Amino acid sequence: MLDKIKEIYKEVEEFKVDNKEHLEQFRLSFVSRKGKITELFEELKQVAQEEKKAMGQELNKLKNKAEEKFKELNEHFENQKSSSVNTGIDVTLPSVPNELGSRHPLSIVREKIVRVFERMGFNLSEGPEIEDDWHNFTALNFPENHPAREMQDTFFIEKNPDIALRTHTSSVQVRVMENQKPPIRTLSPGRVFRNEAISARAHCVFHQVEGLYIDENVSFADLKQTLYHFAKEMFGKDTKIRFRPSFFPFTEPSAEIDITCLICKGQGCNICKYSGWVEIGGAGMVDPNVLENCKIDSKKYTGFAFGMGIERITMLKYGIKDLRLFTENDVRFLRQFTSLG
Ligand code: DAH
Repeated sequence: MLDKIKEIYKEVEEFKVDNKEHLEQFRLSFVSRKGKITELFEELKQVAQEEKKAMGQELNKLKNKAEEKFKELNEHFENQKSSSVNTGIDVTLPSVPNELGSRHPLSIVREKIVRVFERMGFNLSEGPEIEDDWHNFTALNFPENHPAREMQDTFFIEKNPDIALRTHTSSVQVRVMENQKPPIRTLSPGRVFRNEAISARAHCVFHQVEGLYIDENVSFADLKQTLYHFAKEMFGKDTKIRFRPSFFPFTEPSAEIDITCLICKGQGCNICKYSGWVEIGGAGMVDPNVLENCKIDSKKYTGFAFGMGIERITMLKYGIKDLRLFTENDVRFLRQFTSLG
């Protein structure tokens, strides 16, 4: 009988329990009342009196060993169960995919414009969206009460007529010229405001990018070449530009800039109103009065400036027909744009 006890002891020790089913088999074999160990206790009754004590001790050792092993393993599996129940996390599930947003078309185009001018040596500058009369109008050679101020429907602050939301990024020109000495080559993208009804073609909040180049001997030819290079980089090498005479108080001479229509390639279509040309902004030679207002010697220095609408350029670039799409935040619209090389 001693051999049998030893044999079963070894079995208990070596029994492999990897899961709950194995544990149940272990319980049935060694711990339950119908198991092998109970059977041995039955057999003990037949054992001669002298051997009973020693035998009984061995058998109890076996019994304890089996019960201990069962208890330990049982606890182990219970813990495993409760930890997954408590956290409610199934680590085997596939993870939720991370949705990647996309850049706003206006940001993409602004960045492209900035990159083209940066390569020509322009740096970036910015100014406040809430401006004073000096920077938005007076320093830019808008005489007081001159009708030119009405070209731009301005949002004024009732309590203080000196403060307004800037109507153009030309105000940043003034700030740069007041604070820096020529040579100046700067680009100022930013948000501007005008008191206009919202429609497919107009908005009260939109974006412009202003360019300014001041140095000795800067000429109108430099202006033309700079904008021509920009047009080719931005819209493709076959793009042409043309200048139409115009008026701005801060430039003399002034021009409006057209590029060949991207939709019909100059053939004429309803986007360009059958002219083959579309306008992208205004430009000119900085008026000497403006230079002097900013304490720059207009005898020594000349310069050119230009201003373009970022919405306008974006609409031409992507063939977008309604300005309101830019601010409606409809993801079906927004997710269509990828960055421009
Ligand atoms: N500020 C003008 C506007 O908002 C655009 C403009 C025209 C800017 C001519 C310039 C310029 O710098 O030279 O309509």
